[in-house]
Amino acid sequence: MTKIALLTSGGDAPGMNAAIRAIVHSCQHHQYECIGFFHGYNGLLNDEWQALTHADVGNILQFGGTILKSARCPAMCDPKGPKQAANTLRKHQIDALIVIGGDGSFRGLEALKAHWEGQVIGLPGTIDNDLAGSDNTIGFATAVTTATHAIDKIRDTANAFERVFIVEVMGRHSGHIAFNVGLATGAEAILSFENCDPADTAPQLARLISQIQVQQQHNHDSFVIVLAENLWPGGPQALKAQLAEQAGIDSAVCVLGHIQRGGSPAPEDRLLATELGLEAVNAVSRNQDRIMIGKQGSTLQAVPLNGAINDAKPVNGRWVAAHEDVLTEYLIKHSE
Ligand code: F6P
Repeated sequence: MTKIALLTSGGDAPGMNAAIRAIVHSCQHHQYECIGFFHGYNGLLNDEWQALTHADVGNILQFGGTILKSARCPAMCDPKGPKQAANTLRKHQIDALIVIGGDGSFRGLEALKAHWEGQVIGLPGTIDNDLAGSDNTIGFATAVTTATHAIDKIRDTANAFERVFIVEVMGRHSGHIAFNVGLATGAEAILSFENCDPADTAPQLARLISQIQVQQQHNHDSFVIVLAENLWPGGPQALKAQLAEQAGIDSAVCVLGHIQRGGSPAPEDRLLATELGLEAVNAVSRNQDRIMIGKQGSTLQAVPLNGAINDAKPVNGRWVAAHEDVLTEYLIKHSE
């Protein structure tokens, strides 16, 4: 009987449970055995696992987090780690390993392939949406929704106090969350890797100061800056200090942080996770290997794992341009 192992790895993402559920149901449909390893790749290194059946995945798809737990596993970057992981998979006579995670987790799969003959399949699970080969990753829609609702609330108090707010959003090194959330909330400024060079922030700072000043002269509403994490040297507190020092602009800082990773998955994530999970098991039955299952447009597709990791997935250029155009128009209108 074909035996599939599965694990969740790296930063958890809302919808991982829905993917686990779909994989387990599909395994039962195909009459495959399914076992889950806990705590990401650590479960393979420590042989920490559980058999998974329908009964184990009932009533989980509406919850964030992951019933298999997650972790980062630096040991997979050392040749000993993948070797040990391969031994565990052999011991359990696993035919295929499905990993739900981000680029680091997929690198773990690539490393494993050097020592293991079984099939490896990745499912894109990260709030960052930074994997090529799938329009969206599992968890991204929920993170954008959560951050959007949070900034709507910030907007209320910012308006009441006529304040400048710097709101930091997650994304590691990509601006998908920043641009989606910035546009969805009508942020006056979006600072992200796509439109700001972290090695030379002076032009952006000057522009930002002039935008805030123009806005403050012409109305007394709030000014929300959505800032991508890891972009501004010194982080949002440094930006706050620079605004104060260089232009006497007072601002408040809010780091949204890990709330973006939690919460009940949005329907889009539940559906995406379900489709990708079912397709991952179909891919095992087709003997596919070293692939990630993604969805582009309405088409499910298998893409090479190394392409998913290494190919660029830029933020929608129209959105970056739209933000710039809107800002430019806004500035012209207010300086007339
Ligand atoms: O990759 C998901 C993510 O939430 C990133 O957006 C963020 O940079 C990182 O993980 C935070 O990781 P940790 O929870 O380990 O601090």
